Amino acid sequence: MPEAPYPQYHCPVCGKELPLEDARITVTCSDHAPETDVAFEVREAVPADKRDIEAICDRAWGETEFDSFGVTFDVMSGINLVAEVDGSFAGLLSLAVHGGELAIVLLTVYPESQGSGVGSALLERAVGVATDKHLPFIKVATTNDNIPALYFYQRQGFVISEVARGLAADKHGSAEPGFSDIPVRDEIRLRRPVA
Ligand SMILES: CC(C)(COP(=O)(O)OP(=O)(O)OC[C@H]1O[C@@H](n2cnc3c(N)ncnc32)[C@H](O)[C@@H]1OP(=O)(O)O)[C@@H](O)C(=O)NCCC(=O)NCCS
Repeated sequence: MPEAPYPQYHCPVCGKELPLEDARITVTCSDHAPETDVAFEVREAVPADKRDIEAICDRAWGETEFDSFGVTFDVMSGINLVAEVDGSFAGLLSLAVHGGELAIVLLTVYPESQGSGVGSALLERAVGVATDKHLPFIKVATTNDNIPALYFYQRQGFVISEVARGLAADKHGSAEPGFSDIPVRDEIRLRRPVA
């Protein structure tokens, strides 16, 4: 598994940047969920975004190619939606048409802009892409350790459609530590209808 070179999350209490293994979950009531209040804009990527897209992929995964659904997707040839906060690059949603559905290749928001609705807004824009392309479903694959992503997608109407048990561990030769040090073993596939 490529080593993600930068933290994916930050601590809402002290602001410290968190490598995946150091992140922990806190359950709150809905009134006290951690959130920040930032204004952002979501738009389609343009050629001038290339460097920012490469940089956020590097931070998320260390490269621009991602394996899911048994194939390799390259973000640089995907349908890319970007989010900006104060004119600065804050998040990316990369999409590809695969098997008659719209596949999320990568969704990542820089830690300082998480919890402000950026991920939800990018996803909403993806629904528009799927509608325009007459694709009935949006699908995504994540791994068993990625509790924030499993929470996020299920809150957004996705349901688990398949579990490729052991796929992630087999691909990398062993179950490496992921979010909160949970061993990364399985690829979990989720989908939601577009209409
Ligand atoms: C998953 C991710 C894209 C969500 O983006 P986001 O901009 O933070 O999402 P939103 O602000 O729209 O929040 C959506 C929900 O997630 C919650 N959330 C987001 N970040 C959170 C965090 N760090 N801790 C707890 N909850 C969080 C929000 O509170 C909100 O909850 P609600 O539905 O109960 O209101 C983002 O956390 C991320 O980039 N994670 C790292 C990369 C990753 O794992 N991507 C998915 C790979 S498949």
